[in-house]
Amino acid sequence: MCGIVGKISLNPVNNLIIDGLKKLEYRGYDSVGMAIINSNNKLKTLKSAGKIKDFLIKYNSNKIEGNIGIGHTRWATHGIPSDLNAHPILDYNEKIAVVHNGIIENYLDIKNSLIEEGYLFQTDTDTECISNLISFYTRNGNSIMNSIKLTLDKIIGHAAVLVIDEESPDKIFGFKKGFAGSLLIGKKNKEISIASDFDTLKTNSDEYIVLEDYEYFYASKDKIEIFKQNKPRTKTWMKIKGDTEIVSKENYKYFMEKEIHEQSAVFLRNLQGRVDFNEKSIDFTDDFSKLKLEKIERIHLIGMGSSYYACMLGSYWLEKISKIPTQFSTSSEFRYRSPVIENNTLIIPVSQSGETADTLSASNLVKELNISQIAITNSINSELERITNNTIMMRANTEIAVASTKTFMATIEILFMLSIYFAKLKNVNIEKNIIFEELKIIPSYIDNILGNVSEISKLAKKYSINDNFLFLGRGQNLPIAMEGALKLKELSYIHAEGYPAGEMKHGPIALIDENMPVFNIVTEGQYFNKMISNIREIGSRNGKIIVLTNCPDKLDPSWYTDIISFDRTNDLLSPFLSTVCVQLFSMYTAISRKLDIDQPRNLAKSVTVE
Ligand code: F6R
Repeated sequence: MCGIVGKISLNPVNNLIIDGLKKLEYRGYDSVGMAIINSNNKLKTLKSAGKIKDFLIKYNSNKIEGNIGIGHTRWATHGIPSDLNAHPILDYNEKIAVVHNGIIENYLDIKNSLIEEGYLFQTDTDTECISNLISFYTRNGNSIMNSIKLTLDKIIGHAAVLVIDEESPDKIFGFKKGFAGSLLIGKKNKEISIASDFDTLKTNSDEYIVLEDYEYFYASKDKIEIFKQNKPRTKTWMKIKGDTEIVSKENYKYFMEKEIHEQSAVFLRNLQGRVDFNEKSIDFTDDFSKLKLEKIERIHLIGMGSSYYACMLGSYWLEKISKIPTQFSTSSEFRYRSPVIENNTLIIPVSQSGETADTLSASNLVKELNISQIAITNSINSELERITNNTIMMRANTEIAVASTKTFMATIEILFMLSIYFAKLKNVNIEKNIIFEELKIIPSYIDNILGNVSEISKLAKKYSINDNFLFLGRGQNLPIAMEGALKLKELSYIHAEGYPAGEMKHGPIALIDENMPVFNIVTEGQYFNKMISNIREIGSRNGKIIVLTNCPDKLDPSWYTDIISFDRTNDLLSPFLSTVCVQLFSMYTAISRKLDIDQPRNLAKSVTVE
């Protein structure tokens, strides 16, 4: 989703801004722009709909140069992706430029009152009310800093904002309100970098600070001052440590393909230091040593999209393995339904990006209620980590493809391990020998699937002509059916629904005919016979039956159309393997349909608006 970059340097900043924007590309966006104060202290802006490469082609012979500037990748909310609506958005005098992540809920009120004051609006964006509001306050005698503060006070909603102003040509201004993603300020020698994403910041900074809710600031090459409610804030600069991860596609054609193939390594990495196979025990002391969990009586998992389906699966495991009553909700519903959270409840917010607006707001609500929480995230230094103070890291390294794969795998693995951890805490007996033996073997079973993708790719090609799909599962296979349907619709734009198999005859069965392929997850264990009955109901109505199974020898080939099989494990652990199969099926379907695998249309990696 939208990304922000700001730069102050002794050298020209335009290429530095482009480099920063390229690092933000993976978040998903539809237009690009930058504004620079040039050596004559004039504000110059370039922007265009499309990708950075389109922007660079368009402005190949029209470069702007200066030592201070801001840049933006926009994911359209208010107004279509167009040159005009791309950020930076200028005030009506064209002296002030603004880049903005988030949504201003009262923008129409502000816009209408400014129109009455004689202001003109050129774009469809809510952001234009910020640039014009700042202009309005300065025109009425306020300093630029005070105007920024007044604007911050006036707007309702979520905003991470940078501003440059021709009247203050040596400074970048900015503010943060609510949860529209991070705003981080870094420095190295005399160079200042500002970014909405830690990975973008860290390549050019030695140390950094994080802007918090309601803080506003200015930065020049020699000084940075931060305020909240008119009072200066003192911040401790944090060192940026460690190597910068270099992310490439290696020998793969797509990032997603590479990320799917990384999953056994990610799985192993998440076991390290947490699982003791000799003792058959799991320990998260390094992840959340500060929390006392013995008294926990209930768990509530919250997340969005794939993270939500991971929560659903986590709830099945937590109840089944550790016997702790567990609920799961989308963060967007949880936060607004005035949730009743009983004493001794643990909340687990899940977000690979650590920046999903709904999950941040829900987690902040939990924090305000003083309820314990542990986040699961893949993003070091993310806003979610800061809110919860207790984090289990996914150890998946950077995920570039917009649709999540290896972070989903890491999340479900962590939730599985947490279930075993809580079972011990609650003195619940589990089949330790089987579970730990099989946990050890999962990475090689994942590699078995990945070493032989041709069957799945052939089937994906065969079914890629379809317009609709149903995915069915029961028990721990249901969340994977839902995730499979989500992946298919995201990547291939085929309409797909995930359903509990038992629910099928209560409505969806009306859709079944010879044009409706149904993808069924059938594993050996508790649900086997029930699934077979449901599948036979599809066959009786001429639906096309694809079976994803770990027990092909138990199935009668006369009643299914196609089959995908994977190694047999204890039923509880089969989601680790079925996940890989549904990911591959979706990716190869999208490849057959010649679609953009890494950046499907309309999607964003980091969803910073609610
Ligand atoms: C699906 C996908 C999205 C995300 C969702 C939440 O492939 O990637 O559905 O799972 O936007 O994102 P995070 O986990 O960053 O909160």
